[in-house]
Amino acid sequence: SLLIFMVIFVISADFLRNRRPAGFPPGPRTLPILGNLFTMDQKRPHESLMELANTHGDVFSLQFGQKWAVVLNGYEAVTEGLVTKGDSMVDRPFLTLQNEVAGGLGVIFSNGNIWKQQRRFALSTLRYFGFGKKSLEPVILDEFTHCAEEFRGFKNKPFNPHLTINNAVSNIICQLVFGHRFEYSNEGFRKLMLLFDQALFIQSSIWSQLYNSFPLVMRYLPGPHQTLKQIWCDVKSFVRGELNEHKKNWDPSEQKDYIDCYLNEIHTSKGQEDNTFDDENLIICVVDLFVAGSETTSTTLRWGFLYMAKYPEIQKKVQAEIDRVIGQSRQPTMADRANLPFTDAVIHEIQRMGNIVPLSLPHATNREIQLRGHTIPKGVLIIPNLASVLYDKNQWETPFTFNPGHFLNKEGKFVKQPAFMPFSAGKRLCLGENLARMELFLFFTSFMQHFTFSMPAGKEVVMDYRPGVTLSPEPYEICATSR
Ligand code: HEM
Repeated sequence: SLLIFMVIFVISADFLRNRRPAGFPPGPRTLPILGNLFTMDQKRPHESLMELANTHGDVFSLQFGQKWAVVLNGYEAVTEGLVTKGDSMVDRPFLTLQNEVAGGLGVIFSNGNIWKQQRRFALSTLRYFGFGKKSLEPVILDEFTHCAEEFRGFKNKPFNPHLTINNAVSNIICQLVFGHRFEYSNEGFRKLMLLFDQALFIQSSIWSQLYNSFPLVMRYLPGPHQTLKQIWCDVKSFVRGELNEHKKNWDPSEQKDYIDCYLNEIHTSKGQEDNTFDDENLIICVVDLFVAGSETTSTTLRWGFLYMAKYPEIQKKVQAEIDRVIGQSRQPTMADRANLPFTDAVIHEIQRMGNIVPLSLPHATNREIQLRGHTIPKGVLIIPNLASVLYDKNQWETPFTFNPGHFLNKEGKFVKQPAFMPFSAGKRLCLGENLARMELFLFFTSFMQHFTFSMPAGKEVVMDYRPGVTLSPEPYEICATSR
């Protein structure tokens, strides 16, 4: 009878804890102990959430283990949350796994004073290297030349562009932070990129959700979450090696890259109140720029090749526009963008349909807020469903069809769309948006200038997802024919 009493006690305690607080957004029924942990499709979590929004409304709640989360769906709810009420949702939630890896440092997973200082510094340094004398524009164009050579080496035969594109895009971040690039034949760097790929895969898997929901148990169990922690140690020691090299050769009068600028900042901000600039923050910031800045742009480009192979008539139209405006005798520049509205529209549509960060990064409320008639207490995890904005049927003419016309007016001029939100919105807006747009424009336009992408004979274009932190296409082989 004691056992029966215990079981009834545990179930009723769990039931009480699982009840939604008064005024809290509605949502699906929660299971004892697990909550709604297994509600989401691992491959298409955003689609599961869009379906739930049809039943429960644009603002609804879920429970992961014992922790409540609120999901924002569609252009209006996401904008109201991240922009209008943005100050109340600017924080990241406390997630055990992320905390063990980053220790609350850097930009992506930090809060408060650390976040403010590190983000401001990263933004101003990116601006310094983004435009003007230190512009990364020639760096990107030079990287394209290396990449094109590698593509030509396949001699029109089918190949998987994944690693080469990853290497090319990572090299832009390497030039920015370390001041040098890695040859595509560098085995050590390839290994590091594969580790990154594995880490991002585990990060988005049920293992990390389980870890964050039940840290006390999961910490002692074997599994991919332990591999993830090991990978981050390896990545951090790689960055520490680069940092030590920089320290040896540091010359404060010359700031060649991000690490140089950061060392200068450590030096000048010494002794200032609340100063957060130190080696540990530097290392996590560099890892952050890597994590956020490589896989994203590279995945978008890989979607771009697939869309061009799937819609050859759109590819031809892009190439015709480039031939007319730039020709074949010089490389594109950012100044060409204004004269390439169709190409620009295609890049935007690749980003919209590619939808590579469907659930943004998690946010959290830092005070109790009212949102669309609901009360959300302080400390609740907020999931902005960016996919539901990019596919919002009230915002787009043909939400689920690839249609560059979404970004063109009747005269063929480029038009901005407010619901184009692949970089999220509000104060946590992607820090690398300008750099990413520059990379996408210069790389994509250069690829279209020099190659035509098509599927290997007899193969259909398959647009399936591979699960991961970014939604990337399933591995594919493609032919890049020189023009
Ligand atoms: C954050 C998308 C490229 C650095 C984010 C977020 C999204 C995003 C959705 C989350 C924003 C939020 O929390 O609401 C993308 C896409 C990219 C891209 C789609 C490329 C196509 C880049 C690049 C860099 C970068 C090239 C670096 C150079 C960051 C950083 C954050 C971030 C540091 C964290 C910002 C913070 O927490 O304050 N990005 N990103 N991203 N991104 Fe990007």
